[in-house]
Amino acid sequence: MHDITSRTCLSIILAAGEGTRMKSATPKVLHKVAGLPMLAHVAKAAEAAGSGAVALVVGHAAEIVRKAVAGFAPQAEVFEQKERLGTAHAVLAARAAIERRHDDVLVMFGDTPLVDADSLALARRELASGAHVVVMGFRAENPNGYGRLIEKDGALVAIREERDCSEAERRITFCNGGLMAISGAHALSLLDRVGNANAKGEYYLTDIVAIAGEAGLKVVATEVPAESVLGVNTLAELAAVESIWQRRRREAALLSGVTMIAPETVFFAHDTKIEPDVLLEPNVFFGPGVTVHRGAVIHAFCHIEGSVVGEGSHVGPFARLRPGTDLHRDAKVGNFCEVKKATVEAGAKINHLSYIGDARVGAGANIGAGTITCNYDGFSKFVTDIGAGAFVGSNSALVAPLTIGDGAYVASGSVVTQDVPADALAFGRARQKTLPERGRQLRERLASANAAKKA
Ligand code: UD1
Ligand code: CA
Repeated sequence: MHDITSRTCLSIILAAGEGTRMKSATPKVLHKVAGLPMLAHVAKAAEAAGSGAVALVVGHAAEIVRKAVAGFAPQAEVFEQKERLGTAHAVLAARAAIERRHDDVLVMFGDTPLVDADSLALARRELASGAHVVVMGFRAENPNGYGRLIEKDGALVAIREERDCSEAERRITFCNGGLMAISGAHALSLLDRVGNANAKGEYYLTDIVAIAGEAGLKVVATEVPAESVLGVNTLAELAAVESIWQRRRREAALLSGVTMIAPETVFFAHDTKIEPDVLLEPNVFFGPGVTVHRGAVIHAFCHIEGSVVGEGSHVGPFARLRPGTDLHRDAKVGNFCEVKKATVEAGAKINHLSYIGDARVGAGANIGAGTITCNYDGFSKFVTDIGAGAFVGSNSALVAPLTIGDGAYVASGSVVTQDVPADALAFGRARQKTLPERGRQLRERLASANAAKKA
């Protein structure tokens, strides 16, 4: 097969459709799979397949989509298709990009998020070896709704949309996945010849297959896994795609040395990074932006996002790590703890029922059960800085801004409002008073008062 690294490539991603069947105010292509908009998945696959230029065609909710794109694919050029007149018409909205004459043009749909770089690269290699149009087909168990690939003597001669099919053609199960690779030198002349004489009165991209064939150009169908071209039209299909994505990611994690007791209960985000020799117990959810280093254990029922879990650290069961959490090596965050925007240095322990936010917990420090950093006064957030080897007694409220020095002690039940110097002992509560015999006296008084009431 031919080398594609020296060829230039433009990817055109169609995302103008309305997506009414999603029944959602969010534009269809911004619905997320593994925490990332579908459109971003497609743009990522295009780049991974060596596409140096990406053009997005937006239409419905154009401004919202454009704004989102600036976040996840700032390098992409955005074109607007003002009227939805069909997929060929949509591709031509990016005419200015096509005119720049890339060697390869890939056309993808923004609602087909499982498209993989390998399939795209395969299609590009077909172009490199002389094809002019490459169609990515798949075998459908139920071909309803898909364009059928019409072959003659082993060659692809046309794609027929279902509503334009004859009875016999409707029985064909080799279907159009919707993705195409087109020779950049021929793309515009092929697209400009597409008409709209069909059941829907639309300009179909798929018509370029027959047009190319009639012009004596080489048209090829490659088969890709049905999963890779699964399109999302409803939230039910979105959930199905999510489940396939998760299954693939779990398999990859297991094969890379991550232990999971019940992999089907662990959910990854698009960018989760987990090193080998990590143990994930059942029911763990990763939001975006998480790295878990070697030897860490995430116990059951944890929700983790935007966090780093250091080598050998233990998290959970039932812990929540929110964005900005950075656990250094051998740190511990135990049951019913929430940590947010906090660095927990090596070997420090937050074992039970705590909230630690906007804080640093120094190496080897021990945070007692029920400790709360009071980081918010209703207007601003303040930082709590806890030194190395400090010991914070149970049920303490640390009112930020606050610094607790290295090796300091905080008595349990304290409300700490002033800084505690290194190695000091701070009591932030009333001293205990013990009155001998007063317990018995109280009981007797209560008993006789009660008896008088009943009499
Ligand atoms: C299309 C294919 C069909 C294939 C199927 C695979 C055509 C004509 N048909 O059908 O052969 O089997 O995908 O899923 O290409 N879009 C625009 N502007 C438009 C029209 C569509 O941006 O004017 C976008 C849509 O947002 C969508 C994509 O193009 O992302 C595909 O359009 P859609 O109407 O869903 O095509 P299908 O009928 O599914
Ligand atoms: Ca579709």
